[in-house]
Amino acid sequence: MFYGGDYNPEQWPEEVWKEDVALMRRAGVNLVTVGVFSWARLEPSPGVYDFTWLDTVMDLLHEGGVQVDLATPTASPPPWFSLLHPDALPVTVEGTRLTHGSRDTYCVSAPPYRQASMSIARALAERYHAHPALAMWHVHNEYGTRCHCDHVAAAFRQWLETRYGALEALNEAWTTAFWSQGYSAWEQVTPPRATQYLPNPSQALDFRRFLSDELLGHFTAQRDLLKSFTPHLPVTTNFVFGDWVPVNHHRWAREVDVVAIDHYPSGPGTTAVEEGAFAADLARSWAGGRPWLLMEQAAGVVYTGARMAAKREGETIRHSMQHVARGAEGVLFFQWRASRGGAEQWHAGMVPHAGPSSRLFGEICELGALLSDTEADTEADGEVAAEVALLWDAEAWWALGSPGLPSLELDYLDALRQAHRVLYHHGHTADFAAPSADLSRYRAVLVPSLYLLSDADAANLARYVEAGGTLVVSFFSGVADEHARVRLGGYPGALRDVLGVRVEELRPLDAPVSLTHGLTGTLWSEVVHLEGATAVAAYPDGAPAITRRRGAFYLSTRLDDAGYAWVLRQAGLAMPDSPVELVRRGDTVFAINHTDLPHTVAGPGGGPLRLEPGQVRLYPAQTSR
Ligand code: GAL
Repeated sequence: MFYGGDYNPEQWPEEVWKEDVALMRRAGVNLVTVGVFSWARLEPSPGVYDFTWLDTVMDLLHEGGVQVDLATPTASPPPWFSLLHPDALPVTVEGTRLTHGSRDTYCVSAPPYRQASMSIARALAERYHAHPALAMWHVHNEYGTRCHCDHVAAAFRQWLETRYGALEALNEAWTTAFWSQGYSAWEQVTPPRATQYLPNPSQALDFRRFLSDELLGHFTAQRDLLKSFTPHLPVTTNFVFGDWVPVNHHRWAREVDVVAIDHYPSGPGTTAVEEGAFAADLARSWAGGRPWLLMEQAAGVVYTGARMAAKREGETIRHSMQHVARGAEGVLFFQWRASRGGAEQWHAGMVPHAGPSSRLFGEICELGALLSDTEADTEADGEVAAEVALLWDAEAWWALGSPGLPSLELDYLDALRQAHRVLYHHGHTADFAAPSADLSRYRAVLVPSLYLLSDADAANLARYVEAGGTLVVSFFSGVADEHARVRLGGYPGALRDVLGVRVEELRPLDAPVSLTHGLTGTLWSEVVHLEGATAVAAYPDGAPAITRRRGAFYLSTRLDDAGYAWVLRQAGLAMPDSPVELVRRGDTVFAINHTDLPHTVAGPGGGPLRLEPGQVRLYPAQTSR
C-alpha cells in the first residue's frame, strides 16, 4: 500500500529536506513523486545538467526508507526552451501563440519539444536507473494540453490519412457537402480553428481522437526509453479527468503499468463522497483488474471553484479510504509541503503552512497508520465486487459536447454521475465498461445518454439482452454513428430493435412534466412509438415515456434520482437505502460512515455493527453477505 505525495524539494532550502524525510517517516510515507516540475533546475541551460541537488534528495529519501516515483519534468519546459524554440509554444484556437510564465506551455507535435523531452528523460534515466530509491517512473503530468499550430496541422493530416486513406472517405465521414466544405487536397484540412459560425462536429471529434493519440505518442516514447534502462520498474502517468481533457483514458490505460488518477472533487460533503466513489470506480475499471493508484488529491481542503472549503475532521482519511475500498493500491497527495510562493501557494499540502503541529498533519499521520494496518489485512487485497456496469465512452462524451445539438443542456457526465450516484446511495458498487466490453458478468448495464454508438457495439448490447441481461438506456443514446452522423429512420437509431421503440421527434423540455407513477421528467422528452416494447410510465397525454422490451428499458426523459431508482427497481435491482458506504474488496468489507450520525450495518456474522459518525471499519465479508 503506497502512501505519499508529490515532493518538490526544489522549492525549499536544503535544511528543510532533512526535516521532510523525518516527517515522512513519522507519517508513514513510503512513496513520493519527485521532480514533476523541476526541468529548469535540472537543466538550467540547454544541454547543461545539474543533478547534484537531486542526488542529495534521492539519497536522503533512500536513507529514510522512502521510495521514489521519479518524474520526467516535461509538463513545464524552462523559459530558455521557449525562447530558443518559439515554434514549440502552443497556439490557441484563436491563433494566439502563448508564452512561458505558467506550465504546460509546449506543443506536443513540435519536433524541438519532442527532442528536448526525450533528452531530459534520457539524462534522468542514465543518472538514476540504478538508484536504490527508484521504484517507479512518472512520465509528465496530467496530459491534456492542446495546440492548433502548423506542426499540429501536419500531424493531424497524417493521422487522418491513416484513418481514412482517401480524401473522399474523410469528406464523407465529416459530411463536408454541408456548407460547401468539401476538401480537394489534404493541405486544405486544418485542426479546428476560430471560424465564423458553428464548426464541423465530426472534425472536432476527430481532432480530439487525434490529440489523444498524439499525446499518447509523447508518453509511449518516454515510457519505452525509460523501460530500456529499467525493464523491471513500472511506468505511469497521472490521469486528469475533465471535459477539457482530450485523452481517452480507457485506451491509455493499456499503455501504463499502473493506472494513476488525480482526483479533486468539485464540492464538499456528500458531493465529494459521490464524486470520490465515481472517480475510484472509473480508475478501477480503466485498470481492468491491474493495480491503480490515487496519485493526487488535496489534503484537508476541497476546491469548489469559488473558494476552498475545509474538509471536516477525518474527511481526508475517509476520502482516501474510499479509494482503497474501491481497489486503490495507494493514496498520494498533491503535495507534500504547501508552497510558500508561486501560482499554487494556497494549495493544500500534507504539511500545511502552519507546519507539522497542526490538526491536518495529525490526520496525515493517522491515515498513514491506517493504511499500513489495511496492508497487513491481506484479505482486503482482492477484486472489488460489482454487479452493475455503467457504459463509459470518452468519444460519446466528446461528441455530446458539440455545439448545435437539440439542447445545450445535454450533459453526458451529469447523466453518468446521476446513474452512479443513485447506485451508490442504494448499496451498489459499479464498474464502468466500454460499449464493446464483454458484459456477461453484470446483472445490469446502465447506458446514460450514449450519443455515439457503432453498429458493432449496438450488436454487443443486443447480445447482452438476448442472453438475459438487464439494460437501462437513457434518452439520446445510439442516435449517431461513430462519425457523429445521425442514424436515419427514427431514434434511438442503433438501439431501436433491442429497445423495441421508434422515436419520431425530440422535444427538449423547458419545464418539468408529470409522468404516471408519481414520476417527473425534466430536460428532455420524445415522441415514442412502441414497436415491441410496452409502456412502463407515460407522459400526461398517455404517450409512452418509459418503456420495456424483455430486459431492455428505455427512458425518454430525465428523471430525478428517486425516479431513476424507481426504474432500477422495476428492472429488478434491489435498491435498499444505504447511508453508509459499503464496498467489498477481496474478502473484506470496507464500511465508511461519511455522515454525522451513527449507523448500524450487518457486520461480521450478520450481527449488527455500529459505526460512529465518521467512522471507518473493515471486517470479514464471508459472514456478512
Ligand atoms: C493537479 C496537478 C498538480 C497541482 C494540482 C493542484 O491537477 O497535477 O500539479 O497543480 O492539480 O490542484
